[in-house]
Amino acid sequence: MSSTRRDFLKVTAAGLALGAPALVAPLDTLAASVPRRAPEVLVRRAVKPVVIADYSGYEFRNGGPENAVEHAYRRIVAGDDVLDALMGGVNIPELDPTENGIGYGALPNADGVVQLDACCMHGPTRRAGGVACLEGVRTPSLVAKAVMEYTDHHLLVGEGAREFARAMGFTIEADLNTDDSRRLWREWKRRVDPEHWLDPKGGERRLQDVRNRPRHEVDPLLEAGLSMVDDGLIREGSFWGTINCNGIDANGDICGVTTTSGLAWKIPGRAGDSPILGAGLYVDNDVGAAGSTGRGEANLYNLSSYLIVEELRRGAHPKDAGLAALRRIRANTREARLLNEKGEPNFNVRFFVIDKQGRHAGVAMYHSGETKYALCTENGSSAPDLEPLLPGGPRG
Ligand code: GLY
Repeated sequence: MSSTRRDFLKVTAAGLALGAPALVAPLDTLAASVPRRAPEVLVRRAVKPVVIADYSGYEFRNGGPENAVEHAYRRIVAGDDVLDALMGGVNIPELDPTENGIGYGALPNADGVVQLDACCMHGPTRRAGGVACLEGVRTPSLVAKAVMEYTDHHLLVGEGAREFARAMGFTIEADLNTDDSRRLWREWKRRVDPEHWLDPKGGERRLQDVRNRPRHEVDPLLEAGLSMVDDGLIREGSFWGTINCNGIDANGDICGVTTTSGLAWKIPGRAGDSPILGAGLYVDNDVGAAGSTGRGEANLYNLSSYLIVEELRRGAHPKDAGLAALRRIRANTREARLLNEKGEPNFNVRFFVIDKQGRHAGVAMYHSGETKYALCTENGSSAPDLEPLLPGGPRG
């Protein structure tokens, strides 16, 4: 055996991906184990790029050829910065007027005003930015990125966020509603206040009909909204509509972005989990990324995305890390109004997790409503099943 061959070091891909020291085989051992036919070539196997998102990252194309994960994956493989690629991806559902949980045409707050939340984290540079209760800009994700790039701050809210966006050159629109989101808001108003808001078709539904349903009896505003999910007027995914999208490139650099209109018909000024680092998104370039959709208050209380990344740091698989966060939420959900007849959470929460090796998972409290997540790899895009923590659905 030539000395050239014997000098090759064996390096495991997993070891490299985790930043572990190279594994060096003693030369004698190596000499005995190397096949004799061809020289062994040292191949530094990099991470295979992966992009994951919630199902809206698979479903919506805004009339174009790509969904969010396909767009982001293509650009990552082409060598774009991971966060730039993810931004381009989530801009697709943000700008799609038929996706009424995110960006333009999203379901508005209780006053009929579209208020948007977003944040992003750039793993390689350890930078982050967010906006909450932003009005007038279709792409809050890009404003969050501008906060990251152009300020020393991590979070701008409300009017300040909008004026910052104006200063950065974003187009500020008076109203981000579409005819459809406005119509749905009117229907919600009518269900909440049927004495003043009448059904133009003369429908007989009254708030009492809504209250007779078993869930959320003490919260008729929420109940009115969920009754619209029941009646098929809006998707459950739109009610807490959000896109979280995370990606890793061949260098193992990891980024993430989460963008949403938050809870439909929320109290004006309500910020959910999506703009909050550690809640709706967390990225650690050495470890992985996690982000969420679903009931934001549950994530705010538990800082679930941060919890998941810490589980990854301890060596958990993305699926187990996500399930650990769901168990924490379940354990911390005690108020009767948040429990179903089985005493379990009466809401859904989903997490989308990726680790430093490019392993990934989507998990949910329940396998109901949106039951899949979005994935793009070298094999193209697909929609694998979410792994549920609990059987059944939020209503028992
Ligand atoms: N997860 C979105 C929200 O609750 O605002």
